[in-house]
Amino acid sequence: MPEPLLTARGITAGYGSQQVLFGIDLDVYPSQTLALLGANGTGKSTMLNTLSGFVRPWSGSLRLDNEELAGKPAHRIFRRGIVQVSQGRDLFPDMTVEENLRLGAAIRRGPVGQLLDNVFGSFPRLAERRAQQVRLMSGGEQQMLAIGRALMSQPKVLLLDEPSGGLAPAFVREIATIIGVLRSTGVTMVLVEQNIKLALKVADRFLILRDGRAFERSDMREGAISEEEIVRSIYL
Ligand SMILES: Nc1ncnc2c1ncn2[C@@H]1O[C@H](COP(=O)(O)OP(=O)(O)OP(=O)(O)O)[C@@H](O)[C@H]1O
Ligand SMILES: [Mg+2]
Repeated sequence: MPEPLLTARGITAGYGSQQVLFGIDLDVYPSQTLALLGANGTGKSTMLNTLSGFVRPWSGSLRLDNEELAGKPAHRIFRRGIVQVSQGRDLFPDMTVEENLRLGAAIRRGPVGQLLDNVFGSFPRLAERRAQQVRLMSGGEQQMLAIGRALMSQPKVLLLDEPSGGLAPAFVREIATIIGVLRSTGVTMVLVEQNIKLALKVADRFLILRDGRAFERSDMREGAISEEEIVRSIYL
C-alpha cells in the first residue's frame, strides 16, 4: 500500500456553538477515489469544506504530501492542489464556458491551451458550447463545467460534493462515466454522494458519516453486499 496523499486526523468542526464533526479520520490514497456517504445534514459538505479550507477546523490535523494544512486559508490550500467542486457549483453564469474554464487555470503558469484541449476532449458537450453563456446551460452541463474547471487547475486531490445532485438519470450516468474516466487516468478524488449506485461504481473505498463520526466500510464493493444493507447502514 502506498502512503496516503491526504490524511485527516481528529478533525472537529462546526458553526458557532453547533459542533458538526466529532473527530474525523480519513486517508486518501494516490489515484484512488474515497466515497463519503451519509444522510442529509450529517456533515459531508462540512468535511469537504474542511479539507478545502472553506471551513476552518476547530482541531485536528490535515496533511497533504506531509505538509500540515489545517487552519491555512482556502486560497493557500487550493494552490497546494486540493480543489473542490462545491454543491452549488460556483460558476460565473454570465461568462462563457471557455471563460469559466480559463479561470480554473488562473493560478497555473504556462500555456492554458493544452489544458483546455484536454477538458474539451473529455467533455465534448462543453466543446460544443464553449462560447455559450453558462446560465443558458442545463444543470448537468453546468456540473460538467464545474468539474472541468476544477481539472484546469490540475488538482492533486479533487473534491466532488454530490456531482449527481438534482440531475436526471441520463446525466447521472454521464457524470458516473466521467468520474470513472478520471479515476482510470489517475485523478485522486473524494466523492460525496447520496447516489449509492454511482458511488459503488466509481469508488475504491467508502467512509460513512453518521452524527459527525466516520466509519470505514471495507465490504462495500459493488456486489459485495446488498444495496439495502448499505442504505440501512447509512440512513437507519
Ligand atoms: N454555513 C453554515 N452555517 C451554519 N450551519 C451550517 C452551515 N453549513 C452547514 N450547517 C449545518 O451543519 C450541519 C451539517 O451540514 P452539512 O451541509 O455539512 O451536511 P451534509 O451532510 O452535506 O448534508 P446534505 O446531504 O443535505 O448536503 C447541518 O446541521 C447544517 O444545518
Ligand atoms: Mg452537503
